[in-house]
Amino acid sequence: MRKSRILGTGSAIAEKKITNHDLESMVDTNDEWIRTRTGIENRYFADEDTCTSHLASRASLKALEAAGLKAEDIDMIIVATITPDMALPATACLVQEQIGATKASAFDLEAACSGFLYGMAVADQFIATGFYEHVLVIGAEVLSRILDMEDRNTCVLFGDGAGAVVMGPSKDDKGILSFELGADGSGGKFLHMPAGGSKIPASKESVENRLHYVKMEGSDVFKFAVRAMESSSIASINKAGLKIEDVNYMVPHQANIRIIQSAAKKLNLPMEQVKVNLNQYGNMSAASIPVALDEAVRENNIKSGDNVVMVGFGGGLTWASCVMKW
Ligand code: UT7
Repeated sequence: MRKSRILGTGSAIAEKKITNHDLESMVDTNDEWIRTRTGIENRYFADEDTCTSHLASRASLKALEAAGLKAEDIDMIIVATITPDMALPATACLVQEQIGATKASAFDLEAACSGFLYGMAVADQFIATGFYEHVLVIGAEVLSRILDMEDRNTCVLFGDGAGAVVMGPSKDDKGILSFELGADGSGGKFLHMPAGGSKIPASKESVENRLHYVKMEGSDVFKFAVRAMESSSIASINKAGLKIEDVNYMVPHQANIRIIQSAAKKLNLPMEQVKVNLNQYGNMSAASIPVALDEAVRENNIKSGDNVVMVGFGGGLTWASCVMKW
């Protein structure tokens, strides 16, 4: 079996900056509450004519450039998203057309905020077996379209963006060392969007009852997240044959600074060795980890040979982590 690695990263953020102060005029909230309870200061919302595939394609072209590859070199595209452009066709197929990856198979994957790492794990299997050479894995969201701007429990938390990586075979000891993925479907009710699928198709009533918006029991998700971030990170560190003290850098899901700080503490990592950008972008679900990774790489926070842990959690409930030698 071959080891896979990340050959290039890229990201794209939506156009419109929305500050905490902007939200104060829309819903009963305030900058102080949002900053102290979450760590978020700004987020970006997509323009009316921008959708998930557009952000995904912009991030992908940057990842291809960083990898020194052309779109025709890509064998498979995986888009992790909970906000596809539409139910059919898959957003991955729209991206395939937009970037001209004419030789690539393409499909979407839904594991909410854990989706990007689930996608990397799928890509890793195809590369490990030699089935494919180059796989584009994208996490992309336009969450603003499913936010209830009258629900202060959710609308202040999320933003729109996309991150992408090109994965391919490793030629040395660098690359993916381990994954750990999990799910607990009994917690699905804590983070969900009730309508728009086969259970409650779109109707006048479903729209009037605001069922096409994301609903969340924040404190239940919070408690789950703190446990999952620690246990999944430790499981993938162990699977990689490493110890906690071998970890040089962490790229966590960007949901809440308090969740990130708790995970960093469990891994004995000072915050300088943890990527944080949720103050700028909020929670971008599947896009959070790849955007954070792209920034960390471009800012030279991750050095050649570093052991990096990526870890996330989200709706499902799901969780995922990955250890790689950069
Ligand atoms: O990617 C996965 C997606 N989700 C998450 O990761 C979310 C995980 N959960 C969290 O990050 C936190 O639970 C939240 C940030 C969502 C909430 O923080 P919390 O410390 O758990 O607050 P809470 O839900 O217990 O609410 C405390 C108070 C409540 O008021 P009362 O009932 O004590 O009077 C809320 O109504 O804060 C109120 N509140 C707000 N106040 C001002 C809730 N949202 C807001 C708001 N502005 N936006």
